[in-house]
Amino acid sequence: MLPDANLIYGDSPKCELDACLQHIFATYGNNKTNLLQILNEVQACAGHISTDAAAYIAARLDIPLARVKSVASFYSFLHLQPQGEYRVLFSDNITDRMLGSQDLMQRMCQQLWLQPGKVSEDGLLSINTTSCTGMCDQGPALLVNGKVITRLTLQRVQEIGQLIRNRTPLAAWPAEFFHVDDNVYRAGLVLGNTLTYGEVLRNSLQPGGVPIIDSIKQSGLRGRGGAGYPTGLKWEACRNAPGAEHYVVCNADEGEPGTFKDRVLLTRQADLVFEGMTLCALAVGARQGFLYLRGEYQYLFESLRAVLQCRRNANLLGRDILGQIGFDFDIEIHLGAGAYICGEESALIESLEGKRGVPRNRPPFPVTEGYLQQPTAVDNVETFCQAALALQMGAEKYRAIGTAKSSGSKLISVSGDCPRPGIYEYPFGVSVGEVLRDCGAVNTRAVQISGPSGVCIGESEFGRKLGFEDLPTAGAFMVFDDSRDMFEVARNFVHFFAHESCGFCTPCRVGTSMLKQTMDKIAAGHGTRYDLNEIEHLDQVLQSSSHCGLGRTACNPVLHTLKHFRPAYENKLKSLDFEPAFDLDGALARARQMTGRDDAGAHLKGDE
Ligand SMILES: Cc1cc2nc3c(=O)[nH]c(=O)nc-3n(C[C@H](O)[C@H](O)[C@H](O)COP(=O)(O)O)c2cc1C
Ligand code: SF4
Repeated sequence: MLPDANLIYGDSPKCELDACLQHIFATYGNNKTNLLQILNEVQACAGHISTDAAAYIAARLDIPLARVKSVASFYSFLHLQPQGEYRVLFSDNITDRMLGSQDLMQRMCQQLWLQPGKVSEDGLLSINTTSCTGMCDQGPALLVNGKVITRLTLQRVQEIGQLIRNRTPLAAWPAEFFHVDDNVYRAGLVLGNTLTYGEVLRNSLQPGGVPIIDSIKQSGLRGRGGAGYPTGLKWEACRNAPGAEHYVVCNADEGEPGTFKDRVLLTRQADLVFEGMTLCALAVGARQGFLYLRGEYQYLFESLRAVLQCRRNANLLGRDILGQIGFDFDIEIHLGAGAYICGEESALIESLEGKRGVPRNRPPFPVTEGYLQQPTAVDNVETFCQAALALQMGAEKYRAIGTAKSSGSKLISVSGDCPRPGIYEYPFGVSVGEVLRDCGAVNTRAVQISGPSGVCIGESEFGRKLGFEDLPTAGAFMVFDDSRDMFEVARNFVHFFAHESCGFCTPCRVGTSMLKQTMDKIAAGHGTRYDLNEIEHLDQVLQSSSHCGLGRTACNPVLHTLKHFRPAYENKLKSLDFEPAFDLDGALARARQMTGRDDAGAHLKGDE
């Protein structure tokens, strides 16, 4: 028997909880692939997922309670224990830190008498950090109960503190707190398009045109999510794979620190994204599509749903699309819950199926065995936009933009030390120096291309070009001027990987943690050359034995900054050949305090 729904949320108003439960199960039914969506809704409604709530969900979905708890424990935005009524998470990307996020968090903690990571005794609030929220052009940012607030200043943080103290409902907070800017500084092919929505789809349904997949192949379009796989080949493999159903998935997880261009596309060009997905569905023979939206972009959910509804009303989605008998396709939005690894396509599919976002063994690739083991085309948000435009322009014209191996344009998310952080769209082949000039950066020491898993380049390489021939990028472009300590930049990235490792394979779980400890050891002044050599060994292990790209790229930030900015490391090293990670003298501090001794004899000798 199911537990009484009214007992589940003991500490929340009954009518709200009833409505919440009714809404959840009316929306999602008893379909276990919706487990993550259901958990997201319970979390939003009750502030955590109690054991009773988990038992209720398990019974309704006919799955073991252990599975519900195991899925809930995987995602950082879901909680099995009560959290504060107000859950504040400061974005902890390096660009937030550069804008003072750590100090602001400390000030809020002082104002509200709370330590980070703790829940206040009255249950009012909790304050902690979270990985990059995708607001690097308008940081520092934080999330409060999942809602993003940008451009934090001390004054804004204190106002937030006061609103929390007064228990002001979020709906009554000043609307401008929740405003997110697009900051588009340079529009091109995608951001400057003047298409009437449905136009490409209508043209593609005309008899006598070039078939979609042939056209995409001829256009030379390559995926914009990072790996740059040829989109036409992917769609062809998906179409040719046998399966009862085929699926189209749009990867809007955008978790790579420093990347926020998909956020702007979903804000300004949602119709184009959905048009691209529908064209893909027509090409591969799919009837169902999913947009996997990262939890941090929850604020876009309703507007995206409204765009989908308009498209249904215009017969651009639904049954017999634009009068083409048998062309049925619709799109559902699934919300993530704070797990960077879910951007990896097979982990994303697991998450879509209501499971922990652990990457699958590949092969088989999603094009043959994806969602529910059926052929699935997973593409980045920008890829779908580019695909629609390539079809509209024709392959030849599209191919003429960019470079030989990188056709079309690329959206770049610029953040860090420059006066105009935001979105810049260029034909592929633009040099790093040109982007730096356009965003007004001066005295630039380094640029991190494509986020922590990408590459870090120094001034001597600013002539290099963005494109698959030279510097491939998913879009992040983080600028660091000569006041920045590149060791600290790498340390932030290493902490990010250790935090986001899904823990499935030992080399990555242990390796990213060891890497973090080694960087912390160097930062604390206990590092030696031995540690730098160890990092190189660690990289070899992670490269050769990690299950997915996260582990394989986890050492990149350190190796790249070591190559260009070795002094930033060396001036923190001790001149010893070896120093244990464990600080024995430090560990004896408590004993010294208890015995009231702090003379030389109570310390281990310096060189021991
Ligand atoms: C750890 C990890 C995180 C990833 N995150 C994203 C992401 O947030 N968005 C994305 O489009 N691709 C991401 N990818 C790449 C996807 O696995 C996949 O290659 C991509 O969605 C394919 O789309 P495309 O061909 O259009 O580029 C990630 C890969 C890894 C290994
Ligand atoms: S490499 Fe890391 S993130 Fe990838 S599966 Fe293994 S533990 Fe998970």
